[in-house]
Amino acid sequence: MKKLILLLTSIVNCVNCELIIYPTSPGVDQSDKFKINLHQEDFPAQNSFIYISRSNNRIGQSTSVKPNRTVSWTSFAFTGTPVVATVLAAQDFKQCIIRPKRYGIACRKTESNTATFNITENTVMLSVEFDYDYGSFKSDIVDKLLIFADAPEDDVPDPTDPGVLFYGSEAYNLKGQLQLNDSIRQVYLAPGAFVEGGFRTISQKPIKISGRGILSGANYPHKDPKFLWSIINVDNGMNHIVEGVTMVDPPQFYFRGLGDNNVLRNVKTVAPWTYNTDGVGIGSGGLVEDSFFQTNDDTFKVYNDGLVVRRCVVWQGQNGAVFQFGWWVDRLLNNVSIDTIDVIHTDWCTFKGEVCHSSGNDAVMDLAGKTTLLNTSNINITNVRLEGICPRIFNFVMDDKATGIVKDVYLNNWVLDALTAHTDMDSELGGSRQGGRLSSWLINNMTIAEKCITRPSQANVKIDPKTTNNIKFSCG
Ligand SMILES: *[C@@H]1O[C@H](CO)[C@@H](O)[C@H](O)[C@H]1NC(C)=O
Ligand SMILES: *[C@@H]1O[C@H](CO)[C@@H](O)[C@H](O)[C@H]1NC(C)=O
Ligand SMILES: *[C@@H]1O[C@H](CO)[C@@H](O)[C@H](O)[C@H]1NC(C)=O
Ligand SMILES: *[C@@H]1O[C@H](CO)[C@@H](O)[C@H](O)[C@H]1NC(C)=O
Ligand SMILES: *[C@@H]1O[C@H](CO)[C@@H](O)[C@H](O)[C@H]1NC(C)=O
Ligand SMILES: *[C@@H]1O[C@H](CO)[C@@H](O)[C@H](O)[C@H]1NC(C)=O
Ligand SMILES: *[C@@H]1O[C@H](CO)[C@@H](O)[C@H](O)[C@H]1NC(C)=O
Repeated sequence: MKKLILLLTSIVNCVNCELIIYPTSPGVDQSDKFKINLHQEDFPAQNSFIYISRSNNRIGQSTSVKPNRTVSWTSFAFTGTPVVATVLAAQDFKQCIIRPKRYGIACRKTESNTATFNITENTVMLSVEFDYDYGSFKSDIVDKLLIFADAPEDDVPDPTDPGVLFYGSEAYNLKGQLQLNDSIRQVYLAPGAFVEGGFRTISQKPIKISGRGILSGANYPHKDPKFLWSIINVDNGMNHIVEGVTMVDPPQFYFRGLGDNNVLRNVKTVAPWTYNTDGVGIGSGGLVEDSFFQTNDDTFKVYNDGLVVRRCVVWQGQNGAVFQFGWWVDRLLNNVSIDTIDVIHTDWCTFKGEVCHSSGNDAVMDLAGKTTLLNTSNINITNVRLEGICPRIFNFVMDDKATGIVKDVYLNNWVLDALTAHTDMDSELGGSRQGGRLSSWLINNMTIAEKCITRPSQANVKIDPKTTNNIKFSCG
């Protein structure tokens, strides 16, 4: 008898695996586009709540807003054996795909309207895409579906700790951006917390903002002055950590923290319906890792010394650069390391057709605006995968009045599925007539449609010979 009970227990508590389904707050909008069930081994499947954000919320607030778009997303945590996901879509389909393709996750149709796939790692950020809605130059994906698999939480604070602002699995409305004074050490959003509003540091004390809850800006107008720049603004102070939270439909940027040594980890940003939904502006020694950015303006501001960005997934919307170096007058920085970035979409030409004239800040690597004093060196950007058709790799030409140099730039292993053939979107690299120079750029192993590039023309890149030197493409 005892043996039998032990046996039963070991079956019920999978020794090698754990699936954590997050709770949901009542009253939160549930997706009517998708449903998802998750299971491990032979354990019963569980439903994971799918959230939804709708573009119609922002109609009239910014010219980029297209009607009747949605983003649906869900998050959960697991360890051990793979999680089998079964997604029910609103329409039937023949094929589905999962991005980033680097994950190598096969999407299979198992019955009508139903896709099944295995999630083997617990630090993944997936987009599931169906052939009835793959997007094109005429339209983006109308109903997007994102799935985020986390590792289990490891730092759940005590809710009664007076230094902690603790948001449980409920809905809250902060009526704007809550100011964090020096009595607060940590803000915690439990899984299932749905908090309308944002946070701003007003003291120098290092803050941790963490948990698996959601911060939504949906009910605040575009550029609502209640928010200083972004949903989370930790410009005051340094050594801040933002971890695990999901930010949705921001009134402007998602994150800004211009002090030193800030960290963003396992953060998800979704539903950038308006322009100016930039991803990350971060100070010297900034670290951004294992995060997902769906943006409709610059994703990463490459502005300060010692920036490290790694293992991030980017969905670049209609506007903005993936790596932005420009906008402000000075660009004085050194020692940047960006590694393993999967850009699963670049929507600059979406809605504009194949003959697309895009604004100057739309490129993978970009120097926009009037940046006139540059001293930028030792920039490494490696293992960048650009899925789909990439309209423009570089728009990196200095302003006419610029002086200074951008040198020792190493771009290694950039993989592009395809480049648009349209010449209005040629890439350009150049300095300035006032003496600004690009010097010693090595672009190694840049492949387009699996062909490695040895000459700039093969990548539609124009290089101004008068204001640049030693810009080389190589394969090896
Ligand atoms: C958006 O959807 C609504 C409801 O289906 C429809 O009436 C409307 O025409 C759509 N708008 C556009 C611009 O497609
Ligand atoms: C998915 O996982 C299940 C259960 O572990 C396994 O039987 C199946 O072969 C896997 N499918 C794929 C495509 O890896
Ligand atoms: C600090 O912020 C907390 C949370 O908003 C608030 O309850 C408290 O009154 C504030 N303390 C001071 C000194 O302003
Ligand atoms: C470069 O940046 C990294 C990461 O921020 C830092 O650890 C290192 O000390 C920096 N090196 C130099 C030479 O500044
Ligand atoms: C960039 O890569 C070069 C060559 O691999 C290396 O010497 C340099 O230290 C790297 N710099 C950074 C900031 O990672
Ligand atoms: C440019 O930056 C480097 C590295 O930070 C520094 O050593 C050098 O003095 C700077 N040069 C100018 C002209 O500011
Ligand atoms: C360039 O690509 C080749 C072929 O994939 C690979 O073997 C090599 O290690 C890459 N070079 C660098 C510096 O990453």
